[in-house]
Amino acid sequence: MKEIAERRAYRGLSPEPLEEGQIQRLLQAAHLAPSCFNKQSWRFVAVTGDALTGLRETLAEGNKWATRAPLIVAAVQKPSLDCRLDEGRDYAPFDLGLAVMSLVLQATHEGLVAHPIAGYSPGKVRKTLGIPEDYVVQTLVIVGRKGSDELLSDWQKERETGPRQREPLEKVAFRNRWPDPITG
Ligand SMILES: Cc1cc2nc3c(=O)[nH]c(=O)nc-3n(C[C@H](O)[C@H](O)[C@H](O)COP(=O)(O)O)c2cc1C
Repeated sequence: MKEIAERRAYRGLSPEPLEEGQIQRLLQAAHLAPSCFNKQSWRFVAVTGDALTGLRETLAEGNKWATRAPLIVAAVQKPSLDCRLDEGRDYAPFDLGLAVMSLVLQATHEGLVAHPIAGYSPGKVRKTLGIPEDYVVQTLVIVGRKGSDELLSDWQKERETGPRQREPLEKVAFRNRWPDPITG
């Protein structure tokens, strides 16, 4: 599928604002994701315009590139709102991940970059956005059009055009029984 092949965690962004309709479509795409027992435990805070000023200060040094984004979506979950099954199966982070991927694919379809990050202070994000204490600030999704790489470090600039880096498929996928090879 084109969007899966074309999606990359690009960091060079344009600060040009997004259309309101685009923002709504991204959130709708997230909200149409499947979830355990249809619990829909995900919560999103879409941040634009002047409201981004405080949020930018929560970013880790290595994520300076994200300060150019016209939209940052805080993706949040609370384990008790979702299925909690035996053997450590807490489905809130899983369901939020499905929803974020749906948002990312919609963004890619619209020619946008949507890049989830973990490099921020969750406590500061919570305070800045008024997110209640019992929600986990799981990721910030950095969204915008592709643009200048002026805020990128050298290695980040290289990654913009470098090949995809992945483990061999045989290391992560097995056929019929762990760890049998995927091809016969
Ligand atoms: C949960 C998560 C956290 C990430 N955190 C960061 C981050 O803080 N900063 C960053 O530049 N990229 C971050 N990334 C992007 C990954 O580094 C990137 O997806 C990975 O290197 C694979 O590259 P690709 O998405 O272009 O295939 C994160 C990705 C995920 C899914």
